[in-house]
Amino acid sequence: MNNYSTSPDSSFALRFFGLLVCAASLFSAKTVYAESDPLKKLMQTNNCVACHQIDKRKYGPQFDEIPAKYTNDASAVAKLAAKIKAGGTGVWGEDYMPPQPQVSDADAKRMAELIMALKPAK
Ligand code: HEC
Repeated sequence: MNNYSTSPDSSFALRFFGLLVCAASLFSAKTVYAESDPLKKLMQTNNCVACHQIDKRKYGPQFDEIPAKYTNDASAVAKLAAKIKAGGTGVWGEDYMPPQPQVSDADAKRMAELIMALKPAK
């Protein structure tokens, strides 16, 4: 029994543990967004939650699908900020987003930035 070296066992344990950590981070990746908390607060104070959720489709598009649509668009933040205030239709379907005049310019821009920073859920 004492002839066995312990190192193969412990390196196996290390690798196994490393694998566990990787697997755990993979599974949790779906719900963890770096920017979701400040975005959620703004969505509540500006009443976006009536029609939008971050990771589920409600009346309007789910926010974590928006970045993929604008990946190669350098003006995406400006466009989305303007759309947030003006509303509109035709980008995600036939549904109409009414204008949101209660939203300040600063909040509209911040929300557009936070939406574009969402990592798509995989
Ligand atoms: C009454 C429902 C409703 C409310 C309230 C609402 N939205 Fe929307 N939103 C929509 C609909 C419907 C669309 C899809 C419009 C389209 O297809 O062009 C949309 C689209 C969007 C888009 C994507 C725009 C694009 O052109 O790709 C963003 C960003 C967005 N909304 C942000 C917000 C924010 C931020 C708020 C809160 C200030 C908000 N919305 C409030 C219904 C709503």
